[in-house]
Amino acid sequence: MVSKYENMKTILITGGAGFIGSHVVRLFVNKYPDYKIVNLDKLTYAGNLANLKDVENKPNYEFVKGDIVDGDFILQLFEERQFDGVIHLAAESHVDRSISNPTEFVYTNVIGTVNLLNAAKHIWKDDFSDKKFYHISTDEVYGSLGEEGIFTEETRYDPHSPYSASKASSDHFVRAYHDTFGLPVIISNCSNNYGSYQFPEKLIPLFINNIRNKKPLPVYGKGENVRDWLWVVDHARAIDVIYHKGKTGDTYNIGGFNEWKNIDLIRTMCRVMDKKLGREEGESEKLITYVKDRAGHDLRYAIDATKIKNELGWEPSVQFEEGISKTIDWYLDNEEWMKNVTSGDYQKYYDKQYLNR
Ligand code: NAD
Ligand code: TYD
Repeated sequence: MVSKYENMKTILITGGAGFIGSHVVRLFVNKYPDYKIVNLDKLTYAGNLANLKDVENKPNYEFVKGDIVDGDFILQLFEERQFDGVIHLAAESHVDRSISNPTEFVYTNVIGTVNLLNAAKHIWKDDFSDKKFYHISTDEVYGSLGEEGIFTEETRYDPHSPYSASKASSDHFVRAYHDTFGLPVIISNCSNNYGSYQFPEKLIPLFINNIRNKKPLPVYGKGENVRDWLWVVDHARAIDVIYHKGKTGDTYNIGGFNEWKNIDLIRTMCRVMDKKLGREEGESEKLITYVKDRAGHDLRYAIDATKIKNELGWEPSVQFEEGISKTIDWYLDNEEWMKNVTSGDYQKYYDKQYLNR
């Protein structure tokens, strides 16, 4: 008997146990019962299967634990599973960690990506019909803006941190495999994401957790750096649209036209949380502590997301005020999740990163 799942399209999502990956896996597993979704993740400190509890028993979902840096393992997995498409999110993703340990970023972000490209090229040979290799990247590859300007898909790459240099390098390899071997690739470059299941080393979940626990809020430098924030669910929606309707060989910028100076964002979070926690207005702002700036700290990122709107009809579904309020509620309601991910190794990282800063 032919199994119901034998003729399904099989899509590999790498890094699906991480922050953005878990939202993408959730969306694809629920929205496309006719796809088989294979989530490949090494489960580093940032990967957590608890992020996917609600889909883990779905018949069209499967988790595989593995390292994209292991080329033989990746090749074998592709040969066995004959993936029709790849959505590649696995990466080392935190700038501060890339400053203390750049090499790890080269292994995972560059070599890991090349291993996946080689495996896709190997199994697809020259028959690329209906195949897709979609690489998820960041706006940080474009470098830093001054007071003016905005990143378009034509902006020249100018990465400054080891993280953004490794992502830029992986983007170049993905394009090179398109131009040299004809591999059907797509790349998107997204701005800063916020939302549920983000590891609390990044600004928003870290500060929500510290505000709740009345711990200092370590603002780098003067807090004048600007980031362009997008709700993670909207990024997952954009990935869905690009995977299905994007033009092979193209790049799409994703962002919410939502720029915030760090200090303004932090004050807003303090105000919203004072209300939610029944604290006196201004209480949480007293936790703000200015600390030594990040080395090579990019001043400003801003994404021009006109192309994805005009060509694919994607737009963010929520305004920032609504998104940040939902996000704060999620972290307040999921204290257990936060406790689990902030125990053990994370505490060592936190002490090293912030004590004596
Ligand atoms: P994350 O750190 O939360 O998750 C990364 C995931 O990759 C984790 O589950 C981890 O276990 C897995 N992983 C790491 N190394 C691996 C390896 N060697 N083999 C297999 N799995 C491995 O990251 P995120 O914030 O969800 O980012 C996902 C992707 O989106 C990254 O490629 C990142 O560069 C990109 N991106 C992130 C943002 C953002 O704001 N977070 C914005 C734009 C683009
Ligand atoms: P982060 O969430 O690390 O994202 P990225 O560096 O990839 O943009 O940081 C967002 C901004 O917040 C960035 O300008 C650095 C700043 N920041 C702080 O001021 N204090 C912190 O403790 C952290 C983690 C970040």
